[in-house]
Amino acid sequence: MKEKKFVEVCFTPQDYDYFKGRFEIVVVIDVLRATSAICSAFNNGVNSIIPVSTIEEALEYKQKGYLVGAERGGEIVPGFDFGNSPYSYMTPELKGKDVVLSTTNGTRAINIAKGAEKVVIGSLVNLQALIDWLLAQNKNVVCLCSGWKDNFNLEDTICGGAICEALLASGQYTSDDDSSVAAKYLYLSSMDNYMGFLKSSSHRRRLKRLNLNEDIKYCLTPNQMNVIPILHGNRIINS
Ligand code: MLT
Repeated sequence: MKEKKFVEVCFTPQDYDYFKGRFEIVVVIDVLRATSAICSAFNNGVNSIIPVSTIEEALEYKQKGYLVGAERGGEIVPGFDFGNSPYSYMTPELKGKDVVLSTTNGTRAINIAKGAEKVVIGSLVNLQALIDWLLAQNKNVVCLCSGWKDNFNLEDTICGGAICEALLASGQYTSDDDSSVAAKYLYLSSMDNYMGFLKSSSHRRRLKRLNLNEDIKYCLTPNQMNVIPILHGNRIINS
């Protein structure tokens, strides 16, 4: 019988050392909103995205003439071209462009995952396409939740749980860790109504206070596109 591959969920970037090096594929997830914005950008024809962890790095790219999005605490960092709203990445001006992005948690998680054989961008908006792609790869997978400032969050865990559930249901995969079991059960409890289930999630409340309800609705609407953004060196490109 063919040996099964593993799929696990890492709740926060802080926990990543435990998983590091054991999985060929890392799926970085930041449902609200970095990885949803990245998927939207590629769906809109952006050429590449350079994810940077710090505002200082973002500023260096801006000074070189790049278009740069920067967000901290849910808000656009003054002096940059845009923030982290998926809608900012749907404009015709961005088509074919190379864009730099720095966000509170998502771009940091992407950089933490560098070094894995493949780093792929996951969110609810590209969920089914991502699941199909992962099944075709047939490699060990860890879903790295970006969380909030190294703390657990619900929406990324639910997305990781959805990936676990689908990969386990295929029969190709197994999982060992309680984090993955917990993520799967959170997904199963929320799958019929993400908006309702996530009403009390901390980042949903934060974005609501910033009047970003349309962003929340968009990011929590699954399977809107088939993009598979993958990190190549320091750039994300749609595969
Ligand atoms: C992040 O990277 O922390 C988030 O995407 C924050 C946000 O909603 O802009």
